[in-house]
Amino acid sequence: MFDRLFRRGPTEFNLQINSPGTTVRASTKESLLLAAINQGIAFPYNCRVGGCGECKCKLVQGKVKELTDKSYLLSAEELQQNYILACQSLPRSDVVIEVALRQGAAAHPIIETEGRIQSLRHLTHDILHVVLELQQAMPYTAGQYADLIVPAEADRCVGEGRSFSFASAHDPQRPQRVDFFIRKTHGGAFTEWLFEQAVVGSSLSLQGPYGDFQLRPGLQPLLCIAGGSGLAPIKALLEQAIEDHQGHRHVTLILGARTEKDLYALDEIDQIRRRWTGRFQFIPVLSTEPAHSAWAGQRGLIHEQLHAIVGDRLNEHQAYLCGPPQMIDACIAVMTQAGIDPSQIHFDKFLDSGHMVVPQDE
Ligand code: FES
Repeated sequence: MFDRLFRRGPTEFNLQINSPGTTVRASTKESLLLAAINQGIAFPYNCRVGGCGECKCKLVQGKVKELTDKSYLLSAEELQQNYILACQSLPRSDVVIEVALRQGAAAHPIIETEGRIQSLRHLTHDILHVVLELQQAMPYTAGQYADLIVPAEADRCVGEGRSFSFASAHDPQRPQRVDFFIRKTHGGAFTEWLFEQAVVGSSLSLQGPYGDFQLRPGLQPLLCIAGGSGLAPIKALLEQAIEDHQGHRHVTLILGARTEKDLYALDEIDQIRRRWTGRFQFIPVLSTEPAHSAWAGQRGLIHEQLHAIVGDRLNEHQAYLCGPPQMIDACIAVMTQAGIDPSQIHFDKFLDSGHMVVPQDE
């Protein structure tokens, strides 16, 4: 039994992270992951909803309640060694876990603040560019995301929230300005509110930043793949790369869209290209562009085109992907088959709080 370090109420336990390590308080109503990141621990994670597997850790001691099936994300060996997903595990006793904490990653404090819409602009018929001015600055690393929540006075979807990636690198000159590319989703109350009711001046609540999808150092050429509104964190990563003097790395940016009219942010991509000092190749790939159109670029699904676009040096790349899970899984399969080491493949799947299992009182 390890030492009890804190006074606490009946619904809190100690969560010891590594041995020797750090002990934090963990409520029975929040996941081990949230307990750790809310207290500034550089815990590896991305989605927070049981979809990416990055928060896996070894349960060394104690009991947890698991919210979802983990077997599809963990190997047979990991299951046998008592690995769990920290984002899907609620403490039911004092707990000791082992995990390789992120090294060199900026751990920004998670804050809650209000934001006022400064501009709303249609990028395509179903993607909005939303710029917010925050009451309180929210420092983040390019590639991270925030939860956006409609305030209570909006009558149709009180408390409805979703996660969206920041669409630009953090600007220390304007730390209270943040922007997002937001796609309308069918049946999504949040995006319906945004597309149908929100106006310049409307308020939102924000919580974040979350996630550790971010540019890793290295010399390899970059292969960036974005599907739909998944361009947001990829654009932010590339802007940050320029600021961090990594713009000399060759980059291939592939943007998947349905048709030519679904392409967007082309001016912004061109601005990045002009500031990039290495080779910058931008390839849009259209999946359902009409056969008779004048489009002379790539057609089809991105994973089908990867070898044709990148050539036989695909295995030398460091890859970053953001978009629908099917697109990411198909591309990763091609990349690993081509010999890219899985440690060089970083991705952010579109999984949001709609996938999140809310802890129930017992
Ligand atoms: Fe836990 Fe993604 S599975 S953060």
